[in-house]
Amino acid sequence: MKIIGIACSPRPRGNSTILLEEALKGAREAGFETEIYRLAQMNFSMCIGCDKCSEDKKCVFEDDLTELFPKLEKADGIIISASVFGMGLNALGKSMVDRSQIYWARKYVFEDEPFPSRPGALIACAGTTFEGVFNCMVKPIKYFYKMLDVDYRHQLLHNPVDKPGEIKEKEEALAKAYQLGKNLL
Ligand SMILES: Cc1cc2nc3c(=O)[nH]c(=O)nc-3n(C[C@H](O)[C@H](O)[C@H](O)COP(=O)(O)O)c2cc1C
Repeated sequence: MKIIGIACSPRPRGNSTILLEEALKGAREAGFETEIYRLAQMNFSMCIGCDKCSEDKKCVFEDDLTELFPKLEKADGIIISASVFGMGLNALGKSMVDRSQIYWARKYVFEDEPFPSRPGALIACAGTTFEGVFNCMVKPIKYFYKMLDVDYRHQLLHNPVDKPGEIKEKEEALAKAYQLGKNLL
């Protein structure tokens, strides 16, 4: 069984990515195969709202998301990690979510059979403790999972953590991430 991790942070080793790596370590400990995709190292276009996916059930772009999305359809579990930028989901993550419009079309225009339900999780980091700082991060990720028939089952929302790599000093957060991956299913 395979768990796929998607790191949305633009940083080479973002705080949220470090937590994701811990979670995937936990998942391997529980006997799962794991694979990680780092959006910062991938090439993909933003959704241009052309609505072609509602006509052709196909995105006009062929890029690295064309490779990733079918893997998500087949994954037994998904863990997304991301950073709060501008009080919301950072742009790389949001761009991926927008490209999932193809799954909206699949579900609501073509009324295709749903994919089998499987667990999903969100790991997120924010630099402040502002009220509701994770709100505009959780909503689009829940939406993304819903489009893929993934059950939003776990979340680890850690704040405050700001400087690149600072999370490595937060043993409790690392341990929680490990447990999240180990108990994903
Ligand atoms: C461009 C930018 C915008 C940010 N905006 C916010 C924000 O609105 N609220 C907040 O709490 N932290 C904000 N932060 C802090 C990040 O959430 C924090 O540094 C976090 O640890 C980054 O996670 P990462 O290392 O996984 O990318 C921002 C950081 C950057 C670089």
